[in-house]
Amino acid sequence: MSQLLIRGGRPLEGEVSIQGSKNSVLPILAATLLIRGQVELERCPRLRDVEASIRILRSLGCEARWEGDRLMVDASVLGDWSISDSLMREMRSSVVFLGAILARCGKALCSMPGGCELGPRPIDLHLAGLRALGAEIVEDGGVLRCEAPHLRGREIVLATPSVGATENLMLAGCGAEGETVISNAAREPEIVDLQEFLNACGAEVRGAGTGTVRIAGGKALHGGTYPVMPDRIVAATYLCAAASAGGEVFLRDARSADLSAVTAVLEECGCAVTSDNAGIRCVSRGRIRAASPIRTAPYPGFPTDAQAVLMAALLRANGTTIFEENLFENRYRHVEELVRMGADIRVSGRVAVVTGVERLHGAAVECTDLRGGAALCVAALAAEGETRVGNLRHIDRGYEDLRRDLGNLGAEIVREEARA
Ligand code: UD1
Repeated sequence: MSQLLIRGGRPLEGEVSIQGSKNSVLPILAATLLIRGQVELERCPRLRDVEASIRILRSLGCEARWEGDRLMVDASVLGDWSISDSLMREMRSSVVFLGAILARCGKALCSMPGGCELGPRPIDLHLAGLRALGAEIVEDGGVLRCEAPHLRGREIVLATPSVGATENLMLAGCGAEGETVISNAAREPEIVDLQEFLNACGAEVRGAGTGTVRIAGGKALHGGTYPVMPDRIVAATYLCAAASAGGEVFLRDARSADLSAVTAVLEECGCAVTSDNAGIRCVSRGRIRAASPIRTAPYPGFPTDAQAVLMAALLRANGTTIFEENLFENRYRHVEELVRMGADIRVSGRVAVVTGVERLHGAAVECTDLRGGAALCVAALAAEGETRVGNLRHIDRGYEDLRRDLGNLGAEIVREEARA
């Protein structure tokens, strides 16, 4: 099995460029299905989940090819409207393809995405919204059969501001007749990026970033070039890495507006965070302080995706920090691994209490999920001795090259590949 070997105790120093955003590019790749023409995505991250999306696009008849960090997708001709069970299982967020296929083809066939490492991940809001737009959806033994010869725009009120459901309905809304209004929409920056992409291709979408998104449907979309936004969770990971190991890092292209909930906590802990148009700088000297309670919440609240990496940064803080995880049930699986490194963490339901310890020590640990895996690396940077981080397939879903980036920041880190 591949593993990362990290020798901790050395402050970070240096600069990295932040990769394109995973959570932004996945719905954008689904959106390419709406477009007759070539789309060129700049700063497209090379990730396992992106490769899975490319396989879905190709299975539907699209052309997709890489040119450096640009991905060219052409969906002018589609030959299919179904996604195989194995492709649906590869990536939970494949469900966002449903709205796009329905909008383009008037029908779709795919399987239910199952639970995932974060616990059950229902899609009831996605399906209710698509039904409200006129889709007939039959759930039959784990298969979704969808027919929607005429999608019609109307107002949909989401019971909870789901990111995926908002994206799915934006894509379906582009293919619907008249106006679709999504109320209580998710406000994440990735929703804004999807809107900007769609509009760059000729769509008429307004309101992303607020609780109400309006889509004027039925526009013919054309190809174009679009730069994917920088990944705010990757940036949060490296900010937390600097807080954990100490030192000074500059994250080129990171956007401070997307990260204010995270940087506010790091500043409270004693880090100096500054930013300009070029990126974000974080300086951390000496032992950091514990933070006020961290409660994960939809944007602009504290992101659930940054909970694990922040927890890792606070393991050696002076004092106790309380975390409350409000989005996913199963999001403390990294805790058991961090405890192996000497962390003092007590979990009760959705609350975790982290009491800073003087020292962490290297250990053999396993990634349990994507961000939990990154958290192990953040902790390892501050641990005495060597940490071996295994089960890297989780990390590879969301980080283009964690070894390269942390290495560029001065970490002592080596990746050993599994022998074939
Ligand atoms: C997206 C992100 C993920 C992030 C999450 C929350 C992508 C590819 N993934 O996931 O990294 O952690 O947002 O910021 O962008 N819910 C329902 N019914 C539904 C849909 C969601 O009850 O039909 C619930 C979920 O169980 C969860 C909450 O709504 O408790 C938020 O989930 P959602 O915003 O949909 O997350 P994802 O889009 O799956």
